[in-house]
Amino acid sequence: MNLKIAATHFLNKYGVPELQIQVPGRVNIIGEHTDYSGGDVLPFAINKHVSFISKKSTLPYYRITAIDLNDQIDLTTATLLPKNHWSRYFKSALAALVNHDLKIGTTDICFTSSIPMGAGVSSSSAITCGFIKLLSIHFDLDLGDNIIIKLASIAENNTGVMGGVMDQTAIIKGKKDHASLINCNTKEIKNIRVKLPDHEWLLINSGVQHNLVMTDYNNRSLESQQALLLIQSQFPEVTTLREIDKTHLDFLRFKNSLLSKRARHFYHEQKRVAKIVNAIGKNESDKIGRLLYECHDSLQNLYEVSCPEIDFLIHCLKEIDTVKGARIMGGGFGGSVICLIDKNAHTEIMEKITLSYHDRFKIDLSSFIVDASDGLKIIK
Ligand code: GLA
Repeated sequence: MNLKIAATHFLNKYGVPELQIQVPGRVNIIGEHTDYSGGDVLPFAINKHVSFISKKSTLPYYRITAIDLNDQIDLTTATLLPKNHWSRYFKSALAALVNHDLKIGTTDICFTSSIPMGAGVSSSSAITCGFIKLLSIHFDLDLGDNIIIKLASIAENNTGVMGGVMDQTAIIKGKKDHASLINCNTKEIKNIRVKLPDHEWLLINSGVQHNLVMTDYNNRSLESQQALLLIQSQFPEVTTLREIDKTHLDFLRFKNSLLSKRARHFYHEQKRVAKIVNAIGKNESDKIGRLLYECHDSLQNLYEVSCPEIDFLIHCLKEIDTVKGARIMGGGFGGSVICLIDKNAHTEIMEKITLSYHDRFKIDLSSFIVDASDGLKIIK
């Protein structure tokens, strides 16, 4: 549903709208499961959005309509929600603002989304970032991008996922045709042009829904902290995993094989981010592809966040010449695969894998080309 139809919906329901904003989802080229440990990541905002339409209200609660779900709620920070209710992201964003002593009134909101839910492309961050921005505009809070990123990430942590700031940063600061190379330790960002002349980024949704709260995601975040603590017990000068080298990895290997695997993923993933940025700059598609496959291997075997369905997909994609590389993307345990493919090969690739995937798992695949797009946009 487009913004125009949503605006008509709003008009019929709540009256004349005052604000429209459009918030993209994100993909990540590389730098996976490293943001919460201060690593480097390379995400970009995509050409799929959550669109919000709103106006200020005088009621003591927020009226929020999820147009696509044909559902609505009257929400306050005290509302008791059923488990996993779609409005929990609005509620936790509200709580984050209130806990920061920000004075806000209420609003009426309609929203609609073209971002597939549960596919690992951050529809939840699009909601928290969009809602906070919308409140900032309506109530003259004048929140800068960095504080919105921080509040949105606190809001998501409050829903139970101990993630980093990658998603919110890409969504707010995205730039057309570029990815954001984010140092998640210093929060420094460099824009890297990722539009390649003869290739495209393809996203394949495995159809294995992932609600990260129900997965081992938080354990991985914890294990990374434990790996750092163990290294520090012998090498107190190390302040983040970014500083570790072969000596520290050897020490870990001897002390704790599980934590050693997690730290090895971080160490090599950091190197892969730098290598891919370099390869993208030189338009070396084969090299970019190899790094994507290496990253998948590491996420599958060292970090252990893949699943049989996605490992099968990667196996099939490796057999196709027009696929340069592919890997599981995002929080893992399902969700999507990001691939670098030859331009215009999308349809033929999907024809080659859809049937065998369905035969094996009885799941339908869906896919779309992702273009690096601008971040959050105020429409009016
Ligand atoms: C999820 C989290 C991000 C990041 C990725 C894994 O998308 O929200 O912060 O940790 O998983 O890279």
